[in-house]
Amino acid sequence: MTVPFGTVFCDWMTTAPTKDGVYQYGGNVEPYGDFSLSPAAHALHYGSAIFEGLKAHWQVDGSLAIFRLDDHVTRMCQSAELLRLPALDAAVLRQMIVDTVEANVGEVPPPPGSLYIRPTLIGTEPNIGAAATPTSEALLYIVNCPVGDYFKGGVRPLTLLVEEDIPRTTPQFGMVKSGANYAMALSPTLDAMAENAAVDQILFATGGDITETGAANFFLADDDRVVTRQLDSSFLHGVTRSSVIALAEDLGYEIQERPIELEELEDWAGRGEAFLSGTAAVLSPVGTMLRGNSKIVFGDGEPGTNTLRLRESLVAIQNGSGDDLHGWRTTVQS
Ligand code: PLP
Ligand code: COI
Repeated sequence: MTVPFGTVFCDWMTTAPTKDGVYQYGGNVEPYGDFSLSPAAHALHYGSAIFEGLKAHWQVDGSLAIFRLDDHVTRMCQSAELLRLPALDAAVLRQMIVDTVEANVGEVPPPPGSLYIRPTLIGTEPNIGAAATPTSEALLYIVNCPVGDYFKGGVRPLTLLVEEDIPRTTPQFGMVKSGANYAMALSPTLDAMAENAAVDQILFATGGDITETGAANFFLADDDRVVTRQLDSSFLHGVTRSSVIALAEDLGYEIQERPIELEELEDWAGRGEAFLSGTAAVLSPVGTMLRGNSKIVFGDGEPGTNTLRLRESLVAIQNGSGDDLHGWRTTVQS
């Protein structure tokens, strides 16, 4: 797959508009295409829009499986609740995802490619007076994209720029997967990239509090330990993050979920590794971090052995070559 991530869409999608606040899913897929929306739709004015991102992978036995479907469904239900969108029915959402993937099975690329699944929920009430009221109606839809690597150039050491001043979003809504969070992160991201074309991601570390990058969670590792920030509402609770923690535990690493100090980075760079985790990012090595005028290079700047070991173990669960000890795979086509 050489097309940019997320720019090609599969032939089929599913939609469920609400009627009187209740999602109406007829059980049928529809051809992928445009839909009409009131110019006054709540999502367009007041940002009532959330989404999810998950993947289906071909398995080594020839079947197709969705990775951690129920965890993504649960997170989307929670995002809907936190942004006061009409409550989602987890069973309906789950069924829509499965139906869409089954319809698009012929477009799933071979490994290392996969099918990216993008469930989206937008507020549709046509009411521009509803600035301080939740949308009464919404549209839930699922689209799919055949994808390859998210970062151009495949698995390679990334360069992160540490942003200590401008936050990605507000502390209470970082855990919501809402479009608004990504819009807010754009300005600092583009400004940083304009200054340094080599920057792949911004690592948000407001006031020294390292949380996540614009599209992934952040980890440190050495031969014994795997470290990542403890969960709270200020950043996205990555499903891949929780997978990496579980797999690292299985491999015998000590897990530390705790604040990561900026001052620790130099020390880790000298004897450890850093990486990112995410559905799109998978598990991506970090080679260099730029903080103010200093350049922190991890090891020799190449992917570390622990990073690659953890990545292999994650990919093995995703593609069916590893045992599914945690029950993370949902087979959609055998
Ligand atoms: N943080 C942000 C801001 C993200 O966009 C993502 C990607 O979805 C993640 C973290 C990782 O989350 P997950 O592993 O559930 O994809
Ligand atoms: C994902 O990894 O699913 C995301 O939503 C990140 C996005 C920037 C592609």
